[in-house]
Amino acid sequence: MNQKQFNKKYVNKIICGDCLDVMKDWPDGCVDLVLTDPPYGLTDWNKRGINANRPFDYEDNQQWDMPLTQTHIDSIFRVSHAQIIWGGNHFLELLHNTKQMFVWNKGLRRMHFNDCELAWCSQFKEACRVFDYHVSHNNNKMHPTQKPTPLMIWCLEFLPEADIILDPFCGSGTTCVAAKMLGRSYIGIDISEEYCDIARRRLEYTNFKPSFFDKPVKKKKKKTFFDEGG
Ligand SMILES: C[S@@+](CC[C@H](N)C(=O)[O-])C[C@H]1O[C@@H](n2cnc3c(N)ncnc32)[C@H](O)[C@@H]1O
Repeated sequence: MNQKQFNKKYVNKIICGDCLDVMKDWPDGCVDLVLTDPPYGLTDWNKRGINANRPFDYEDNQQWDMPLTQTHIDSIFRVSHAQIIWGGNHFLELLHNTKQMFVWNKGLRRMHFNDCELAWCSQFKEACRVFDYHVSHNNNKMHPTQKPTPLMIWCLEFLPEADIILDPFCGSGTTCVAAKMLGRSYIGIDISEEYCDIARRRLEYTNFKPSFFDKPVKKKKKKTFFDEGG
């Protein structure tokens, strides 16, 4: 498959399947960036009862919350030029050293939950960066581990040249929504048909929002009562 055939078949689509199967015949380096939030064993954490009152069936998570393998990481590295992997600190043994991590400061201190979350970055800049966004703003979730859209937009803004953005574990599609809002191309993959449907529905209602990175368009001054000479 060449890049042109690849673009036609996969770009701006949500694909249901195991990402390893989906990516296996893709050309090397066919996407600019992988921005993702893979599973890393949330089920065990939730079995402790902290989320007992939340509307998700965590027993179901067992199906999708399997730990990543080296094969997943190798495949992600083969198809992409840069990577931002949320939760990468849970499987550093599969990654390489980096000077660059992103931090999502959730605005919580010493509660049951983490004060922050970390993303492993494939070092496209040399500094760690922090995004402050209170976790309480991340409500109306359609996925138990849904990331805030502003967080994913913030990540994408570090790579303004990256056009094709892949999330091989897209869940409810937050990465793809962020990419679409910034006028980038996206590919989302998820093993769950239910989450793929949610992602597709979210994308239907998502529009390109040029104001996130363009200079604001100067508005015409509204005529007032006095302008009319009245
Ligand atoms: C942590 S969640 C991602 C949540 C997402 N960031 C969001 O905002 O909704 C990880 C997702 O990976 C999916 N998944 C697990 N194993 C997979 C695989 N082998 N291939 C594709 N998707 C997989 C799960 O169904 C789950 O939705």
